[in-house]
Amino acid sequence: MRVPVVVANWKMHKTVGEAKAFVATFLPLVEGVKGCTIVLCPPFTALPAVGEMLKGTHIALGAQDLFWREQGAFTGEISPIMLTDVGCTFVIIGHSERRGRFGKPDPELADPQLRSIFSETDASVNKKVHAALKHGLTPIICVGETLSEREQGHTDEVVRTQLRKALEGLTKEQVAQVVIAYEPVWAIGTGNVCDAKEANRVCGLIRSILSDLFGTEVSEKVRIQYGGSITPENIPDLAAQEQIDGGLVGGASLKPDSFATIVKTVAHAKQTPMDFSNLWKP
Ligand code: PGA
Repeated sequence: MRVPVVVANWKMHKTVGEAKAFVATFLPLVEGVKGCTIVLCPPFTALPAVGEMLKGTHIALGAQDLFWREQGAFTGEISPIMLTDVGCTFVIIGHSERRGRFGKPDPELADPQLRSIFSETDASVNKKVHAALKHGLTPIICVGETLSEREQGHTDEVVRTQLRKALEGLTKEQVAQVVIAYEPVWAIGTGNVCDAKEANRVCGLIRSILSDLFGTEVSEKVRIQYGGSITPENIPDLAAQEQIDGGLVGGASLKPDSFATIVKTVAHAKQTPMDFSNLWKP
């Protein structure tokens, strides 16, 4: 049985003070919630403060990106060692907002030079995944198609290629540890959540690709999340799907009560029938 994982991706939101206020309110809301891995991914500047507050709790700290080198002349970058130093155990890698194609209607990004500012590629994603695992960080690897790729019927191929390239060169043991987030680009921050059955289908496809590449034993261990416009209202339907092991949550993770509701809904939905020890009582 896979333990579901729910991740808050705060993106470029919250000062240190705001992050601390969130944690202070959030902790009591999820006290006693078991059977679900909860991860908070604040911006880099808030990692130390949030990490201090999460010490001794059942909530993990994650970063939103990393650079693959341990140290050196890489202005503006953050190394895996720096992340573990402040208590991170997870890191998001290859988010579509960092890959070299935004698929977003931001007028500034119509300029091709600005569009590629972050320029994450399948190759850099792969290097980051290796670096994370080497330093004991669990990578949350994002894959997903743009709207035009979906409309042209290329969803499965895009996901297959991104997944295969991200995991290149890893051992079976390493693959078993990663978290995959299926995040259709068109669903991120748009309010257009992917239909739960379709999200389940793509998560199932990801598991079958993992099985082809690394064997069924490994593919059954990997936790596969859905991400893109998750809300407290639509999470019950998503969490009820067999292949979806949790969520990567952006906008709805910025408020303690809505994120806590999402966490509790997932934990409750994924309980094994035999496990009555952590029943969620609303
Ligand atoms: P969203 O973002 O929930 O605001 O759509 C999800 C993500 O980008 O990880």
